[in-house]
Amino acid sequence: MNLFTANDTNIKLAAETLLNGGIVAFPTETVYGLGADATQEESVKKIYEIKNRPFYNPLIIHIEKQEWLAGIAYPDGRLDALIKAFWPGPITFILKKRLDNSISQIACSGLTTVAVRQPENEIARKLLYYTKRPIAAPSANLSGRTSPTHAKHVLEDFGNKIEIILDSDLGSCKTGIESTVLDLSSDPACILRPGFISKNSISSIIGPVKILSNKNKKIISPGQMIKHYAPKLPLRINAEKVKKDEALIGFGNTPNATRNLSKTENLEEAAKNLYGTLRELDDPAKYSGIAIKKIPNKGLGIAINDRINRASWKA
Ligand code: TXA
Ligand code: MG
Repeated sequence: MNLFTANDTNIKLAAETLLNGGIVAFPTETVYGLGADATQEESVKKIYEIKNRPFYNPLIIHIEKQEWLAGIAYPDGRLDALIKAFWPGPITFILKKRLDNSISQIACSGLTTVAVRQPENEIARKLLYYTKRPIAAPSANLSGRTSPTHAKHVLEDFGNKIEIILDSDLGSCKTGIESTVLDLSSDPACILRPGFISKNSISSIIGPVKILSNKNKKIISPGQMIKHYAPKLPLRINAEKVKKDEALIGFGNTPNATRNLSKTENLEEAAKNLYGTLRELDDPAKYSGIAIKKIPNKGLGIAINDRINRASWKA
């Protein structure tokens, strides 16, 4: 069995596993990550293979200390203030990669930029502390499935294909939705993926920022492609009524909901529950489809709508 309680002994074991080239899933404050030592090309390659992820979709490099950044990316004038405001936490910065960095080329898909994040979650921090190396980690789901917010989701997708899954005693991840991805290799900075850290809070620190529109998403980063999160069942958004055999995901007062993201219309609660609920209801043996009530498109609702819009995308 590869499910380990995330106590100190097991986190040390996980760090050794990473240094020996193994793969470890670990909780962060956003979603679970599927980690490899970012300096080992072969281990990073395994991540793409296990996830069935195309090699052109680069990974996020997780660091423990902000000082680690200096060896990975070139400084940027906007970075200090952003780091002070948001790190450690759920925001990833795309930066110009140092020519002499030690990060695997595959982890960055051969690009001249690199995605870096300092997570806040204590287990993730300890794992980085014991490993003493940056960890390359995408979300710990099979490509095309919703991100895992619970250790059991990681187990569902990968079983024993990975050496260690560190199980958080908190149960679900705190935020439940992936980090905001902010591209600082461009001016003005551009949000490639909305997340918990909002556009307004970013622009209050560095001035105007853009949000990447869907039609440009393929060009900058294939990971931003519109169809990214794809449940097996069709997902109908902004639903008013539920059809026969459909599961209904409620928000606010929804008496006939199969599950409710937040009865009190709390967007943080809704974000935390979103992926677990989608996974649970995505069962063709029970339902013909999933309907989801309208979520207000403000604050964290922007990130939630980004994810459910992609999940509802049809070829
Ligand atoms: O919250 C999170 O960010 C989680 C936890 C584990 O940290 N990780 C995560 O990783 O969501 P992943 O691989 O599922 O999403 C990373 C996104 C992808 O859409 C990828 O295309 C983008 O970041 N990305 C990575 N490097 C990039 C780069 N150099 N330029 C543009 N986009 C990049
Ligand atoms: Mg992902």
